[in-house]
Amino acid sequence: MKITIFGSGYVGLVTGTCLAEVGNDVVCMDVDVTKIEKLKQGIIPIYEPGLEAMVRENQAEGRLRFTSDVKEAVEHGLFQFIAVGTPPDEDGSADLQYVLAVARNIAEHMDGYRVIVDKSTVPVGTADKVKATMQKILDNRGLDLEFDVVSNPEFLKEGDALSDFMKPDRIVIGTDNPRTAELLRALYAPFNRSYERVITMDIRSAELTKYAANAMLATKISFMNELANLAEQLGADIEHVRQGIGSDTRIGYSFIYPGCGYGGSCFPKDVKALERTAKECGYQAELLNAVENVNNRQKHRLFDKINQHYQGALSGKTFALWGLSFKPNTDDMRDAPSRVVLEALLEAGATIQAYDPEAMDEARRIYGDRQGLSYCDSPKEVLKQADALVIVTEWKQFRSPDFDFLSQQLQDKVIFDGRNMYEPHLVRRSGLQYYAIGR
Ligand SMILES: NC(=O)c1ccc[n+]([C@@H]2O[C@H](COP(=O)([O-])OP(=O)(O)OC[C@H]3O[C@@H](n4cnc5c(N)ncnc54)[C@H](O)[C@@H]3O)[C@@H](O)[C@H]2O)c1
Repeated sequence: MKITIFGSGYVGLVTGTCLAEVGNDVVCMDVDVTKIEKLKQGIIPIYEPGLEAMVRENQAEGRLRFTSDVKEAVEHGLFQFIAVGTPPDEDGSADLQYVLAVARNIAEHMDGYRVIVDKSTVPVGTADKVKATMQKILDNRGLDLEFDVVSNPEFLKEGDALSDFMKPDRIVIGTDNPRTAELLRALYAPFNRSYERVITMDIRSAELTKYAANAMLATKISFMNELANLAEQLGADIEHVRQGIGSDTRIGYSFIYPGCGYGGSCFPKDVKALERTAKECGYQAELLNAVENVNNRQKHRLFDKINQHYQGALSGKTFALWGLSFKPNTDDMRDAPSRVVLEALLEAGATIQAYDPEAMDEARRIYGDRQGLSYCDSPKEVLKQADALVIVTEWKQFRSPDFDFLSQQLQDKVIFDGRNMYEPHLVRRSGLQYYAIGR
């Protein structure tokens, strides 16, 4: 099948590559010319395990091409996927300018029937806006061309995106046209072989499903963080509590890890956008508001612990920082908790030596040569002349350090762990002080 993907970021690139992998003829389009030029040479702009090899293979086989030419892109695909960003606007609502720009582009250049598949996370009612935008342009062009708009939200996780796309838990298809539902079913058939994963529904429900999923996961995290803070006050250990409740199958173990808050390009903006949607239809979403507030507070928690330990005397202190990405296995630092800790420490006059296995380039892009911040090539190097260690991302490489070595290296012999990576008694045995979350 002929497929065009608008937007070659985390979602667009993974979608295009996986659809090519199963034999389709895919063109990925992006307005970022530099990105497209790099992709043409097989250089992947993001870190996603396995993606680079898959892109190169499909390029070599001629099933995956990249372009910044809108006309070529629109002419190519029967399916026109929209996978552009939907960042938060000033009021928290999703900014639809990129989605609607793609809708305009498609309508300006289409010459026959097209299925517009919206994969970006968009508020309920966006498919109607896409339709209206396109129809107006087609009317101006004096053309009577048929098209359908489908909502097909994406649930992939960065860091595990290929496997999520190739073996999805579910494939949500929101459409009001049974014929289009069949086209989408055929497109997704290669990913739907072992059991039925396709769930069809009306467009508005599909649009809401994506926000519901992310808001639910964010709620679980904020709930655990709230409990972790309470556990600290009560002298309980949240890690025992976590296991105690996770073992209940109605609750489950996933997404109940306490820490220094959720980040990334999705949860923060999607919770905000859903809250905004609620407000717009006159509904006060109390729970969503609380989820967001708890998270914003939690992102400051690690800094508060550091500040309290040093009684506010942070100026002149040097901190080793392990982890910058918002979670392991990605280089994405959008809304990452590391940024809150890092900026607060610098603001307080401290110096930071940072290391992350994948996000160093991204950190350099964001912070450049910021005074007080230096980048190191290994988790060991950041420890040199450091007073304390701060852990913000739970990368595998940080799981089992030599605590005696850490104790020798850190001048003040203290670790602030925002991800509860270690057993407190094992750390303390090496003469280190250990601060974690909720224990
Ligand atoms: N990142 C994730 O884990 C994830 C998961 C599920 C859903 N989503 C949703 O998918 C959407 C895309 O997210 P992302 O993380 O891939 O974003 P991204 O910022 O990585 O990529 C978006 C790309 O779209 C391009 N673009 C902007 N305007 C364009 C236009 N008019 N034509 C063509 N390309 C254009 C940008 O240059 C950029 O390369 C968002 O709505 C997001 O909420 C993201």
